[in-house]
Amino acid sequence: MTFSRIGGTGRYLPERVLTNADREKIVDTTDEWIRTRTGIEERHVATDDEQTSDLCVNAAKIAMADAGVDPQDIDLIVIGTTSPDLLFPNVATIVQHKMGIPACAAFSLETACSGFIYAISTADKFIRAGDTKCALVIGAEIITRLIDWEDRNTCVLFGDGAGAVILQPSEEQGIMSTHLGADGQYKDLLYYPVGVSNNLAAAGVGDSRIMMAGNEVFKVAVKTLASIAQTALDANNMTLDDVDWLIPHQANLRIIQAAAKRIGMPMEKVIQTVQMHGNTSAASVPLALDVGIRDGRIKRGQTLLLEAFGGGFTWGSVLLRY
Ligand code: UT7
Repeated sequence: MTFSRIGGTGRYLPERVLTNADREKIVDTTDEWIRTRTGIEERHVATDDEQTSDLCVNAAKIAMADAGVDPQDIDLIVIGTTSPDLLFPNVATIVQHKMGIPACAAFSLETACSGFIYAISTADKFIRAGDTKCALVIGAEIITRLIDWEDRNTCVLFGDGAGAVILQPSEEQGIMSTHLGADGQYKDLLYYPVGVSNNLAAAGVGDSRIMMAGNEVFKVAVKTLASIAQTALDANNMTLDDVDWLIPHQANLRIIQAAAKRIGMPMEKVIQTVQMHGNTSAASVPLALDVGIRDGRIKRGQTLLLEAFGGGFTWGSVLLRY
């Protein structure tokens, strides 16, 4: 049986860092409020001349070097993002061109904060079907371009970044299961009010902002992240004792803690990066994965449970042997 397995990882965060103290200068907020309500201390914010594809390229180069693969080896690019360079061509083709990757399947998908989980789940299926030998999978955002810097409800939360993974076929166990889900009835709790077929002429993108009923999103996020973790374990006849690391979407430390508590996962086994990165939407899970690998906590052979939740609502999990 062929599995898909992670051959290498990489991450890129824009150099510009904004601390909570920087935020205090812009809106009516405090470092204390941001830390106690979200856990966030700082976040990286792209400069005007950086595009999402640039973040992707920087993360991808590191992941490819880690896996020992060249641009010629890549035959699938899948990118989860809500903040592509352009509406079309899709950002994966822009990354392909910038990196000199030969013609291959390249597409992006927009499932908000679950973007990377959807992307890696899709690539896993391509590999197991025998269609792909080397997939470049990325979660990337310059989500701060969609923020109103004067809206304190959201401007303290988000940050930019990209995390990349090389996924390859293997006879050794890699990805064991993927579970994806969505429920469109929650659209009005978290959305961006401008799209191509909706409001584009009436309100330019620059005049709009992310709309979020934070408190209600919080409650559904905790319940969903807890229940999808359990679903993944049940599907594999595993318990939490079998999992070395939980790598959840990094939106809010209190959400991560509450979801972990619900399923009985000790926080020592949860990778946490929200403090340094803020909520980077589709980039948050691959960024946290790479942080855990590079700082030596995550080791080859260990079992990882990745999970995410975001606008839509969308959600998903990936259980894998690293
Ligand atoms: O990425 C996936 C989707 N996103 C999420 O999962 C985010 C989910 N939600 C959250 O993380 C939290 O709900 C927030 C961090 C957004 C808000 O935390 P909260 O504990 O739910 O606060 P709240 O919305 O209940 O607001 C409490 C108060 C309000 O004041 P009043 O109405 O009680 O007087 C807000 O106006 O805090 C106020 N507030 C702020 N105060 C200082 C909201 N933002 C700020 C701020 N600084 N930045």
